[in-house]
Amino acid sequence: MSERIVIVDSRDWSQPLQGLVPELEAGKVLFFPELRFALSPEERLLLRADVRDEKSRNISLRLDGVLAGAAVQGEEQARLAAMIGRFRTQACSLIDAIAPAYKPALRLAPTSYRPTQVESRVQSWRADDRRLHVDAFPSRPNRGERILRVFTNLNPHGEARTWRVGEAFEDIARRFVPRAKPYVAWQAKVLRALHVTKSLRTEYDHLMLQLHDGMKSDLDYQQTSPQVTMPFPPGSTWVCYSDQASHAVMSGQFMMEQTLHLPAEAQSDPAASPLGILRRITGRPLV
Ligand code: SIN
Ligand code: FE
Repeated sequence: MSERIVIVDSRDWSQPLQGLVPELEAGKVLFFPELRFALSPEERLLLRADVRDEKSRNISLRLDGVLAGAAVQGEEQARLAAMIGRFRTQACSLIDAIAPAYKPALRLAPTSYRPTQVESRVQSWRADDRRLHVDAFPSRPNRGERILRVFTNLNPHGEARTWRVGEAFEDIARRFVPRAKPYVAWQAKVLRALHVTKSLRTEYDHLMLQLHDGMKSDLDYQQTSPQVTMPFPPGSTWVCYSDQASHAVMSGQFMMEQTLHLPAEAQSDPAASPLGILRRITGRPLV
């Protein structure tokens, strides 16, 4: 299972890297043990849980530059926004260094800073990211568009962010697609009309949610399926397609995360995408 993680020896966010696109598109996690997001002494003062507004899950820097979910004001808030903004720039450089051909098709999402300790979060099984899953969001259908994520561990106390990484997407799909509830087009329209979903939930979105929920609700699968535990140390960075790489976060505190979206057809091998794999397995277009 350790082959699901590819170690990359790079210390530079913008140094071009060859040969990693097929690994990324195979749903592997690219792990950069020495790629550090450097903080100034003033920024290090922002590594505390109470910078987050208790009503928000994360702090996020929106695309319009507005900071959401922070409990700090004034100069401290500006410093926090600048720190998250610098991570956004470096994360984008890293993706350009790995996959320059993606650039014209990438769509940036907000950048998040997660100062909360993972172990102490109380959540429903469906929201519990300590269970292995592939990312799929109930209110945000994406019609097969990819979820590419860059993570970096900022922990100042030497604590790793520990993940479990699970089996390949094709294996997940072969296991859970046969158990999936059928897609019902009129129900998707009702969810849209009621604003439960921001756009129409396609059959692709339905199947991805079925995989997400099927994995998280199956405790036997959680414990016995092929998986590897991976502690990402402070000062390290990792990248994966989180809609494809099965993952669970077991512990850690203080992380940055950048999401980028990419149409499946803009990847090097569209057939390797979850949309491509699910189309092949079901024999249906899905979107
Ligand atoms: C997730 O996407 O499941 C959470 C990852 C993390 O917080 O480390
Ligand atoms: Fe996730």
